[in-house]
Amino acid sequence: MSKSERLFLRAKKVIPSGINSPVRYYEPYPFFVRKADGSMIWDEDGNRFIDYCNGYGALLLGHRRKEILSNVISQLRKGTLYCAPTQIEVELSELVSKNFPSMQKTRIVNTGSEATMTAIRLARGFTKKKKIIKFEGCYHGAHDYVLVKAGSGAANIGLSVSEGSLEEASRNTLVVQYNNSQELDSVLQREKDVAAVIVEPVLANMGLILPEKNFLNEMRKIASQHDVLLIFDEVVTGFRMSTGGAQKYFSINPDITTLGKALGNGFVVAAVGGRNEIMDMLSPGGRVYQASTYAGNPVSVAAAIASVKTMNKLKSRLYPRLERACAKLVSAIRDISSDMKIHHQINFISSMFQIFFTDKPVVDYSSAKAADTVKFNKLFQELLRNGIFVAPSQFETVFLSYAHSDDNIRKTVAAYEKALKMVKQ
Ligand SMILES: Cc1ncc(COP(=O)(O)O)c(C=O)c1O
Repeated sequence: MSKSERLFLRAKKVIPSGINSPVRYYEPYPFFVRKADGSMIWDEDGNRFIDYCNGYGALLLGHRRKEILSNVISQLRKGTLYCAPTQIEVELSELVSKNFPSMQKTRIVNTGSEATMTAIRLARGFTKKKKIIKFEGCYHGAHDYVLVKAGSGAANIGLSVSEGSLEEASRNTLVVQYNNSQELDSVLQREKDVAAVIVEPVLANMGLILPEKNFLNEMRKIASQHDVLLIFDEVVTGFRMSTGGAQKYFSINPDITTLGKALGNGFVVAAVGGRNEIMDMLSPGGRVYQASTYAGNPVSVAAAIASVKTMNKLKSRLYPRLERACAKLVSAIRDISSDMKIHHQINFISSMFQIFFTDKPVVDYSSAKAADTVKFNKLFQELLRNGIFVAPSQFETVFLSYAHSDDNIRKTVAAYEKALKMVKQ
């Protein structure tokens, strides 16, 4: 019996389903991690994988990036939690505003879920309206406001709303098809009590789905016409698509933005920000409540400052290199799949991609759900057997990091070739 299997049996006795977040589970049991470095991750049995799960997109700079480690270590020597303000929190918010001009003020929080929860409460407090609109398949965290037709792990379970969620909360969350601005407009014509539209500008929790040309522009226009705030959930895209996220990439100004993942490159930190007049609604100055013991904790803030500074310093090399590596990988996998006559679609942008086994374009929740997930699961298992770790679900994305070398990419292409042969059988 492998060490991972033994650990899984132990884990199941004390941790529900043996894992601490649903998408980490796959058949027959997940590998247990011993360590990670750069682009690589090792399991407890000594197997080594090239990591494309990458902390679900957080590790843009790869594991154990030296600038981040040294800033964190020097902060650890000065203390881990003060629960009183620090200069570095001010610095981090200044850095965020500089990179994301739409975020004039930010609150630094811990997780993406906390950031979207605060963004939505802020929108309700600011507009004095109750409902929100989200898009099918977008995932904005595990809280009641948004756990309706959600992607990521929730897409695997097949529930529209989680059991135990408040029906009253989900009734106030209206769901519109992604890439359908007409439907958004007609819902807003009908519904007068909508505070905000929340969207993943690139949908990275249903596999990867790209916004069609003009979808985001139209959304911006429609939201303004109806006096509804536009929330860009950039927990995945922030700092990944550019130093100014998807909003800079597509030149769109949202009213509120949430960041997470790449902001801290593997440390627990997230942010919510927007125009001064909206952010000033937060307590104690305003009447919208948000609080956390660990918000703005100095260790995470030190990590985020080093991450943002490093991404800014490297940006002229970082983003072109990530995009080149991703395009190269995608075009090789596409050629291999086509040569094998495997029906497939690959969606990609920036440093993210996903393959779907279907002959129809994947543009929304239903077209993603129509893909052959049995084939995807086979691909996942075969990739793992060949030393490649991608997220274990069709409804997640493959993420590249700056640590992936040309050699990693070559090995990955070879592994996809072997794995796709097995999928084809
Ligand atoms: C777009 C998006 N928003 C919010 C979240 C929630 O973030 P967290 O898991 O840090 O709570 C996620 C997590 O995957 C996400 O992908």
